[in-house]
Amino acid sequence: MKGIILSGGQGSRLNPLTKVTSKQLLPVYNKPMIFYPLETLLKAGIKDILLIVAPEHSDDYLKLLGSGAEFGARFAYEIQDKPEGLAQAFVIGANFIGQDNVCMILGDNIFDHDFTRAIQNFKKGAQIFAKQVADPERSGVVQFNEQMQAVKIVEKPKEFLSAYAITGLYLYDSRVVEVARQVKPSARGEMEITDLHNWYLEKGELQVDVIEGQWLDAGTFESLFEAGEYARKKANAIKN
Ligand code: TTP
Repeated sequence: MKGIILSGGQGSRLNPLTKVTSKQLLPVYNKPMIFYPLETLLKAGIKDILLIVAPEHSDDYLKLLGSGAEFGARFAYEIQDKPEGLAQAFVIGANFIGQDNVCMILGDNIFDHDFTRAIQNFKKGAQIFAKQVADPERSGVVQFNEQMQAVKIVEKPKEFLSAYAITGLYLYDSRVVEVARQVKPSARGEMEITDLHNWYLEKGELQVDVIEGQWLDAGTFESLFEAGEYARKKANAIKN
């Protein structure tokens, strides 16, 4: 299983914090934000990791993370020229992925959930993780039937669909590259990851697991602050 950390984007909701640096390099308590998703992958045993970054911050990422040796891993880097959507990561990462399965995590997502078992057991198709939240319309949303099978996935629905948001860690087989190449930009001009999920859903090859632990995307002032507080509590709990 290969890993991708998608760490480009504009971070416009965090302006002016993101005027001179990348959102995922901002501090979350005592570490740069990207360390959290990186640790999620490393903990699950993923050692081959592609970092996709914006051109203006690539030197900072290289300085911070280097070859990966310090982390017992191997890092590769690719540039996303413009933030044209999450699904574009698989077009950019095509060579890196090759014929392998791939786990992508968003660079601003902080999880208190151990994905080791899911990642080690993953064979084929796609697997995503949903969590019940108060504001699901901020993300992709999944609707389940009575057997808790996913029946519908909608990106940022305007009308209430369900309380289950799709979190920013995804597993796919290598077909994802070809599927991503066919994705057309949506009305908001992005290659939507939801299109990939719907492709696998229609084939009956999408598994959606519900997770219970803490999940934060640190992309707004409120959630960035909350993430810092969560990380501080966790670090202190480990110390004591
Ligand atoms: P978002 O939070 O949706 O976008 P953003 O980071 O550009 O922030 P804002 O909406 O405030 O302008 O992105 C989620 C994560 O995915 C984040 O870590 C950045 C990353 N991302 C990319 O790397 N490339 C992209 O094309 C997009 C859309 C997001």
